Amino acid sequence: MNKYKFPENFLWGSASAAYQIEGAYNIDGKGMSNWDKFVRIPGKTFKGTTGDIAVDHYHRYKEDIALMAEMGLKTYRFSIAWTRIYPQGKGEVNQKGLEFYESIIDECLKYGIEPMVTIYHWDLPQALVEEYNGFESRKIIDDFLNYAETLFRAFGNKVKYWITLNEQNIFTSLGWLTAQHPPGKFDDGKMFYQVNHNAFLAHAKTVLSYRKMGFTGKIGASFAYTPSYPLDCNPINIMSKVNYDDLKNFWWLDMYAYGEYPRAAMKYLEKKGIAPVFYEDDAEILKAAAKEISFMGVNYYQSCVCEYNPLDGVTPYGTMNTTGIKGSGQITGIPGVYKNPQNKFLKTTDWDWTIDPVGLKYLCREITSRYRLPIIISENGLGAFDKQEDDKSIHDIYRIEYIKEHLKSLAEAIDEGCEVLAYCTWSFTDLLSWLNGYQKRYGFVYVDRNEETGSLNRYKKDSFYWYKKIIETNGEFLEK
Ligand code: BG6
Repeated sequence: MNKYKFPENFLWGSASAAYQIEGAYNIDGKGMSNWDKFVRIPGKTFKGTTGDIAVDHYHRYKEDIALMAEMGLKTYRFSIAWTRIYPQGKGEVNQKGLEFYESIIDECLKYGIEPMVTIYHWDLPQALVEEYNGFESRKIIDDFLNYAETLFRAFGNKVKYWITLNEQNIFTSLGWLTAQHPPGKFDDGKMFYQVNHNAFLAHAKTVLSYRKMGFTGKIGASFAYTPSYPLDCNPINIMSKVNYDDLKNFWWLDMYAYGEYPRAAMKYLEKKGIAPVFYEDDAEILKAAAKEISFMGVNYYQSCVCEYNPLDGVTPYGTMNTTGIKGSGQITGIPGVYKNPQNKFLKTTDWDWTIDPVGLKYLCREITSRYRLPIIISENGLGAFDKQEDDKSIHDIYRIEYIKEHLKSLAEAIDEGCEVLAYCTWSFTDLLSWLNGYQKRYGFVYVDRNEETGSLNRYKKDSFYWYKKIIETNGEFLEK
């Protein structure tokens, strides 16, 4: 008897994002994005790395998709660069941009790979930043909708899986609270929550419009879910977990699934004077869209521990480990609410990310109980240093181990009643890790490049052959 069962037609996949793989940043009419600009500010990224060339997927997509087909991938999740479609964010469409993504979609379909498209994976047209500060203005809602509708008109008949926003919680937190991503702002929370409210409306109107246009595919958002455990049974720590969940998880998950913010979190923000401002129809639009999403997309990398954080305790502004030097990251939290110390029962990666396969099952169970929605694991993977041997092989057994344990946990969640449609590893080829350069590798396919240079040639890692067997056996190979 096979212990690890996955549904028939389970979508075994892998994911990427335009800025992290494509390169060709100023080619064929593409406009400048916020990231094209941000990475040029000294000190922002590891060794000043940029996505100018990235792993040159723009010119090598046929080779990359052929490798996906060789592996037997059932779905490929990729994002579209808004700046290739609308170089100025709106106005005239760039046909070459549409043609490029049409070729990617067709190439996938040729091999029977289901394309899963992320509409927005963080690269915002710089023109919209200059005109009205991007997501800070409600003007973004209509421009986003116009961009998304262009994609639906162009690809809606070929693409059946759409992800509106990738990790809204991360791009807004790092962009407006801790200043580590563009626009690099520190905020007391007022703008952060307004930016999120605007992003929720962009998502909601996009979902509603997709349905209004008559499409019957699946649509939802992808959330970076960090499930939490209380440090111990001290009630003050249990309540810090409850508050963490409301502020850091359910603030997004509840809005996608119910169209409402969690009440206690809203009260807390109102008391602090930083709650988002609603316009007349907002509540109605958000609720209507919540009824139309088809799945909860989740990017899962780690869980966390919650402990009460005194008023003079740690802040959200701790150093992030972007070097791969273990232990260089700092503990963060919100004074008076929670902090996130290390979990003494779990190991961490070289970038101090907690490794916790059980967390994947935990979050599937949570989503199933709370929202009764199908789940797409739109990212999960291990960022690690890889070594290419003299014979060009790469023995990434640690990555196999990581994915294997997470998949076993996912199979248990399915066995316990969770409906999981897809599992996408992060990532297929190695790629640019936003702040961490090229040395933090995630792929099944090694790309010969470092922070400065490289041939960009592709080499299959041991994990490539292992995941191929997992797909071939629909998960049965996990037993081995
Ligand atoms: C997710 C993002 O946050 O995690 C990806 O959606 C990202 O774009 C991935 O690359 C891993 O994060 P990092 O910082 O290690 O590249």
